[in-house]
Amino acid sequence: MGSSNDQRIAELEQQLAHMHKQLMQAEKMSTVGVLASSITHEFNNILTTVINYAKMGLRHKDEAIREKSFTKILAAGQRAAKITTGMLSYARSNGDHKESHEIDQLIDDVLILVEKDLQSHRISLVKKFEQHPLATVNANQIQQVILNLVINARQAMDEGGTLTISLVENQADQFAEISIRDTGCGIPPQTLPKIFDSFFTTKKADGAGQGGSGLGLAMCKDVIEDHHGRIRVESTPGKGTAFTLKLPLAKQQSGFIRSEQINKAG
Ligand SMILES: Nc1ncnc2c1ncn2[C@@H]1O[C@H](COP(=O)(O)OP(=O)(O)OP(=O)(O)O)[C@@H](O)[C@H]1O
Ligand SMILES: [Mg+2]
Repeated sequence: MGSSNDQRIAELEQQLAHMHKQLMQAEKMSTVGVLASSITHEFNNILTTVINYAKMGLRHKDEAIREKSFTKILAAGQRAAKITTGMLSYARSNGDHKESHEIDQLIDDVLILVEKDLQSHRISLVKKFEQHPLATVNANQIQQVILNLVINARQAMDEGGTLTISLVENQADQFAEISIRDTGCGIPPQTLPKIFDSFFTTKKADGAGQGGSGLGLAMCKDVIEDHHGRIRVESTPGKGTAFTLKLPLAKQQSGFIRSEQINKAG
């Protein structure tokens, strides 16, 4: 009797783990949905650039004008390629595999996907990357966390505002610290303890069916805990919110490797 119960429980736990995985994948894809319209607009702008400069190059026999046209077309094409590459790598699931990554690079790759979305909501982006910490992470999962926090920040700034992303290397505690700060609506103290709960949301579905599922921060917390990191929030209603992520620095970061990297970056 006992053992068949145990077996049943094991089966249910397995099913639950499987469903949790599917839910997290669905959450990831819904983030892409939020960005779809701004990315489509950006592609339209890129195509307009390509078409106009191609016409200009065809119309003019002048060598200098043709050269300029090709340069503009190339730059537009490269920008489009960067976006599609970012999108594909975001959508890909690379399991739980972790390796050493430059955190500033991971953040920059995510920002490519949201730049236009921020612009169109009159949000200015301030980046303060003071160091170039290396951390052992699952790049895909960490990018998902950052994207979620950035989208939450944007959604909190209905009237526009400033999004500040900072990155420092805390040598004393051996953490890379990422902070994502907005000047949005803030979170009331009585709500604060609930925001990391699955399905907790204050966002109502709009005309386009884009409400919140309340899974974004629950996912962030899972991922950060799985990385032995920390996630913390500070908020002042009416003033804004800041989320801080701490990720353990990569172990092999000896003095020598670090100075090599600083040389490379400088
Ligand atoms: N930067 C922020 N400013 C103000 N409120 C926030 C911010 N980030 C999160 N919140 C609050 O925390 C709640 C939960 O956030 P979470 O990301 O988990 O879900 P969601 O954004 O509502 O939905 P989903 O992320 O699944 O689309 C939000 O509904 C919102 O009330
Ligand atoms: Mg969210």
